[in-house]
Amino acid sequence: MSSAGTTMSGASGAACLIRPRCLAVCSTAMNFRTLDQLEARGKRVLLRADLNVPMKDGRVSDQTRLERLCPTIRELSDKGARVIVLSHFGRPKGVRLPEMSLRPVAAALQAVLGREVLFCDACVGPVAQQASQALRDGQILVLENTRFDPREEKNDPAMAKEFAELADVYVDDAFSAAHRAHASTEGVARLLPAYAGRLMQAELEALEAVLGHPVHRLAAVIGGAKVSTKLGLLGNLVGRVDVLVLGGAMANTFLAAQGLAVGCSLQEADMHGMARDILARAQAAGCEVILPQDVVVAERLASDATVQTVPVNAVPANAMILDVGRATVQALIGQISGWHSLVWNGPLGAFETPPFDQASLSFARAVATATLAGQLTSVAGGGDTVAMLHRAGVADQFTYVSTAGGAFLEWLEGRTLPGVAVLCG
Ligand code: 3PG
Repeated sequence: MSSAGTTMSGASGAACLIRPRCLAVCSTAMNFRTLDQLEARGKRVLLRADLNVPMKDGRVSDQTRLERLCPTIRELSDKGARVIVLSHFGRPKGVRLPEMSLRPVAAALQAVLGREVLFCDACVGPVAQQASQALRDGQILVLENTRFDPREEKNDPAMAKEFAELADVYVDDAFSAAHRAHASTEGVARLLPAYAGRLMQAELEALEAVLGHPVHRLAAVIGGAKVSTKLGLLGNLVGRVDVLVLGGAMANTFLAAQGLAVGCSLQEADMHGMARDILARAQAAGCEVILPQDVVVAERLASDATVQTVPVNAVPANAMILDVGRATVQALIGQISGWHSLVWNGPLGAFETPPFDQASLSFARAVATATLAGQLTSVAGGGDTVAMLHRAGVADQFTYVSTAGGAFLEWLEGRTLPGVAVLCG
């Protein structure tokens, strides 16, 4: 066991993206234990975190996940727990790969936390056992990447048992990994008294408030490239939301399925039947579907391309749709005052390449304004969506911004997440 790094600069003032005043408290309804019920002093607490952070040139390039984890670690450490952090990192597929070691991430966590973080280069076995036994009250230890062991992703009961032997209680703060039934997310939670950490609690409360017990009218804004990757999500949402706004390249498939010419736009011809089926289901459920009425087009996806905005039924044959048009965005913004809850996944256009980010940025700022005015509960998630909200400068002005990618999508699909189910069981 060693110290994770030498930098112990002050905590980075973790950006709190939670505006709890707007959220219904639902942990009782979901029946999971929180840190409020945990008598932590002197206990060895196995904390499942998601340290799967982006790296560039060996350094953490986005600290959001680390910052969002800090409240749980600080609370446990302040209460005198011996905190043993467990996480996967990347997809090493059961092999020990030096570039996927958690050591540099532990050092980054130490810097963000502003407290010493120890590191152990095993996650189970005698070395991990020894490191866990050596901890004193309040100390923090990060164990090596759980996915270096092939048993992790198989949810092997023997590995879960080895995790359980490291600690007295289990705290799960990794909502973003809760869609995986792995030994560190599900198996071990059956073997120890299990609690939700503050980040897990916040994610569950936010998502439950917006989809479980929403204040209507509830709108969902879904963008992204492909209908095929979001079929389950769209199918679930049309039965639950009042308004479904479709943007991104996915909207092109819906437009084409209705017989509109979309030029060279990205679209999925084999999904036209599915798109029509979703529209029919929405109509049967009384869900209003909003598709673009005008679009921004260009002959290529490049910042220096010549762009024009055209009505959706006048897309030139040699052009591709790259963003939603201004008239559509203004109409959407005009609708916000009639909504009380909103869930958003996927930008409205090819936002990585300006000027095709304009619709997303304008709409995001309008949602933030309504949220700050207390009129709207807004929840967003997904990597591209969060990046877009940061670019718009409003990531801290939504009710809640999820750190999860795949888990957020599966939640929107209405699926049971194994890592959540085991906490609520
Ligand atoms: C994520 O980054 O979404 C989570 O850490 C899950 O990672 P995974 O898709 O490799 O399981």
